[in-house]
Amino acid sequence: MNDQPNAAQTTVGAWDADLYDSKHAFVSEYGLELVEMLAPQPGERILDLGCGTGRLASEISKAGADAVGVDIDPAMIERARAAYPDVEFVVADAARYACDEPFDAVFSNAAIHWMKDTHGVMAMLGEVLKPGGRLVVELGGRGNIAGIIKAVDQALNAVGHPRPGQGLPWYFPSVGDFTSRLEERGIVTSYAALFDRPTPLEDGANGMRHWMSMFGAELLVHLPDEFREQVVSEVESRLRPVMFHDGLWTADYRRLRVTAHKET
Ligand code: BEZ
Repeated sequence: MNDQPNAAQTTVGAWDADLYDSKHAFVSEYGLELVEMLAPQPGERILDLGCGTGRLASEISKAGADAVGVDIDPAMIERARAAYPDVEFVVADAARYACDEPFDAVFSNAAIHWMKDTHGVMAMLGEVLKPGGRLVVELGGRGNIAGIIKAVDQALNAVGHPRPGQGLPWYFPSVGDFTSRLEERGIVTSYAALFDRPTPLEDGANGMRHWMSMFGAELLVHLPDEFREQVVSEVESRLRPVMFHDGLWTADYRRLRVTAHKET
């Protein structure tokens, strides 16, 4: 998904591609700035990892590059192919993706944090980039949505169904963790930044509950259905004073942005 979903091993399962496009357009809007950082050049072969419904792969292609969008979710890829028939889209798990011809650049916006097999993804990046090829990625970074997670945990504890285990269903790395994993694969960082990017949600007063059903569902998978509404309402009550203003919810996103290149 650009600020995008992709799945199972790598993303979240059956995403609703229609809902994603209509309610979460902010995801790819933010990614346009990242495409500018990528500065795709005519003739370059560029992989968009976790391309979701294809908007940013299409922008890369408009610049004259040969874009290949990869996403694990067939519904997303079906939609991407219909919307952008001139762009190549592939259904694949990023951690297992392999190509015949390496890429001049790999781009990824808001997708890598969904990918459970971080080790596999890093190995794949090391394989698919040409020597000298560049990497331009953004993902949720360490501390991302910490306020939302805390509110969910408090609400789950209150109904007696705490999240099993301590871990998160996402990979929100620090600068050090992410860049050292890249380096192990011969990919050297030239720029890394971890920054708060408060993110307004669509749908006015319903924004937080819609975000939770689209993006936060994995936090509640263990919760019996009969507690769902209670927990969601409790999360809204806890977060309203800090994240709801003038009819708009704003999520406490924190991004990790990295540019790097494969050693020659
Ligand atoms: C994010 O883009 O930061 C994000 C998306 C889904 C769940 C959690 C975080």
